[in-house]
Amino acid sequence: MEKLVITGKTPLKGEVTISGAKNAAVAILPATLLIDGVCTIENLPNISDVKKSCEILEGLGAKITWNTKNEITIDTRNINKTEASEELTSKFRASYYIIGSMLGRTGKISVGMPGGCQLGARPIDQHIKGFEALGAKVEVGQGKISASAEKLVGTSIYMDVVSVGATINVMFAAIGAEGTTVIENAAMEPEIVNVASFLINMGAKIRGAGTKRIEIEGKCPLDEGVIEVFPDRIESGTYIIIGALLGNNLKIKGIIREHIESLLIKLKEIGVHYEIDGDTLTISKCEHIKPTYIKTLAFPGFPTDLQQPITTLLTQANGRSIIEETIYENRFKNTVELNKMGADTKVLSIHKLEVNGPTKLNGMDVTATDLRGGASLLIAALIAEGKTNIDNSEYILRGYGDVINKLKNVGAKIEITE
Ligand code: UD1
Repeated sequence: MEKLVITGKTPLKGEVTISGAKNAAVAILPATLLIDGVCTIENLPNISDVKKSCEILEGLGAKITWNTKNEITIDTRNINKTEASEELTSKFRASYYIIGSMLGRTGKISVGMPGGCQLGARPIDQHIKGFEALGAKVEVGQGKISASAEKLVGTSIYMDVVSVGATINVMFAAIGAEGTTVIENAAMEPEIVNVASFLINMGAKIRGAGTKRIEIEGKCPLDEGVIEVFPDRIESGTYIIIGALLGNNLKIKGIIREHIESLLIKLKEIGVHYEIDGDTLTISKCEHIKPTYIKTLAFPGFPTDLQQPITTLLTQANGRSIIEETIYENRFKNTVELNKMGADTKVLSIHKLEVNGPTKLNGMDVTATDLRGGASLLIAALIAEGKTNIDNSEYILRGYGDVINKLKNVGAKIEITE
């Protein structure tokens, strides 16, 4: 069990560089299974989900070489297994991408039930619906998912729920299907564009990634590919929120404005000022934060993954804010810990939270319950009076690469202990 120890209230000055996007990286890595060859992936974030994805690929027979701390070469010419380690796949949710990519490659795979943060039901019915529509037989039981297909055939699939995971996973399987597949009501998140660019770079024919309708022509010959994982929009948003609370001309480098527009506009609305020059955003502490209403939505709406981090910001707003969480039904667990620190939040229903501010936060022992909830506690600890110990910090390390050094370099007092 790792613990973060943070002493709050130090102003943050200097530059933080944003790492590659977790949710793009965990899809790009298994995408390499779609070819028999060598791929290079640049700008991988230094996070545990990436390491676990690599271990799963190695377990299937891939040969991985780390060229630098953030660049990897993956040789998939000797994939010789169709069963992925149940222990590893059950540790994080994005392990489900092995199903689509192996279906696309060999038409057969068995994995443990994907794990990940407990944010409610989180079914994978849309993934399964897509695989079955392409002709695969999918069996779920005894903690395992097995999928197989003699032949996959392209078809039109309507996603009943907008899901990044289901969109990418079905795109992977469709690469190995005969003919054209159309995904309607696809998710439009930028990570899908990053993954599709990689596949296109390898020779795939994909049109419309980043829109509601994606068309994939299957069975195109694929060759070795290179891709750079683009900067993480959720990590960017988290550091911007930290800057609004503690920044002293804090510079955040690696911003793609279009990816975080919903957050930037919301911050402007509540009185937070920042400047953007190229890919760098400069921000200082905002003295008068206005309360607001936030509703989480699929991209380009306000991201659910920033809902918990911005909750901490709103504990410092002058008045009553309401947050409506429309994607998950169990994403306010962090508020129990925030309230212990002095926040005044009230869960009004499984989808609605009230935050009253401003409240003084005090350092104490708290426990991270999930990745972004952990981030909300980290932000709270940085603005709290005194010392905070965050237990279960593994959650935070799953999504925030080099977080300790990044924060230390700009002046935060933060350590990690076992
Ligand atoms: C992605 C992100 C996650 C983010 C989420 C919403 C990855 C690896 N994860 O997850 O960090 O929080 O987008 O922006 O990219 N759902 C179904 N059936 C399905 C799939 C999803 O009903 O087959 C529903 C879930 O119950 C939930 C919502 O869709 O309400 C999102 O589900 P989840 O699977 O977490 O979303 P992804 O889009 O894959």
